[in-house]
Amino acid sequence: MKRLLSGIQPTGKLTLGNYIGALQQFVKLQDELEDTELFIFIADLHAITIPQNRQELKKNIRSVAALYVACGLDPNKVNLFVQSEIPEHAQLGYVMESTAYVGEMERMTQYKDKKGKQAEGIRTSLLTYPALMAADILLYDADIVPIGDDQKQHLELTRNLAVRFNNAYGQTFTVPEGYYTKTGARIMSLTEPTKKMSKSAENPKSYILLLDDLAQVRNKIKSAVTDSDGLIKYDPKKKPGISNLLTIYSALTEYSIKQLEEMYEDKNYQVFKADLAEIVADALRPIQSKYFEIMNGTELDKILDHGAEKARVVAQRKLVKVYKKLGLGRIR
Ligand code: AMP
Ligand code: TRP
Repeated sequence: MKRLLSGIQPTGKLTLGNYIGALQQFVKLQDELEDTELFIFIADLHAITIPQNRQELKKNIRSVAALYVACGLDPNKVNLFVQSEIPEHAQLGYVMESTAYVGEMERMTQYKDKKGKQAEGIRTSLLTYPALMAADILLYDADIVPIGDDQKQHLELTRNLAVRFNNAYGQTFTVPEGYYTKTGARIMSLTEPTKKMSKSAENPKSYILLLDDLAQVRNKIKSAVTDSDGLIKYDPKKKPGISNLLTIYSALTEYSIKQLEEMYEDKNYQVFKADLAEIVADALRPIQSKYFEIMNGTELDKILDHGAEKARVVAQRKLVKVYKKLGLGRIR
């Protein structure tokens, strides 16, 4: 039996880009993969590498978990849990810090980027973050790790650390493979379609949040930037705006981009946008109602408790094995 594992940052606002680029893919994987155990966790320990508001973090942990379930993650197929509830993550994280070199950490491009953005002191954990991420993965002997491109370097490091540990102490960890979603799934800003749709953008009209009010969603689609030649054709270089809208339309329906081009051959942008506005609203409506149902009910705690129970068994067994190999404590 194989294992798939991924972590999600507990940031409150997920966009349509996250949905099409990540959540939809998870849901597909859960339905398609056979003979695979799936673990997905909310990476709350990773969140405190930068300052967080306590109340907000608390809320976001639940909110992100609920959104994943609302988007179709099936708790019967996926073990969904909160990272900090399994202490072995931090414990193996320390072992990974004792496997990795400082130079390796300092080379990570995400660290260099994030470091520059910190107004005050840079937390040590921001530097050692990839060791914790390696622990997250190796603790479960994950074979497949779905991640965005920006996490590729961290996964490579994880693979190196697994091999290094195995060479030094004997076969202990599975060396994981990254799973990258196909291209074309990258959703761009609605106001500046050459940039990625991002929740940290200044202009809220540039992104659609999964929990945006539906009237607002329709307006954002209708006012999305397009070009002036009026042709509904996919050409991301020359026509990034309409191409992005075609990508969204195709991702949320059964239609290929080619079919959409044919369907809208004689139509103008206004008609196309009005149709797309309804399609996006129809996609978000059931997600939002399920989300509020979950947030207001008791189901979510049961899901997260169950996920943590499953994860704990695997994690505890692995950590004992690792400590033993290192000669720690009095385990024989
Ligand atoms: P982030 O929100 O940047 O931490 O990304 C979380 C996940 O969503 C990663 O797998 C990203 O690749 C994916 N993602 C974020 N923004 C987009 C986007 N605009 N288009 C497609 N995928 C995205
Ligand atoms: N670092 C990942 C991100 O920023 C989240 C993450 C933490 C993760 N631990 C992981 C992803 C383990 C995959 C596997 O998106």
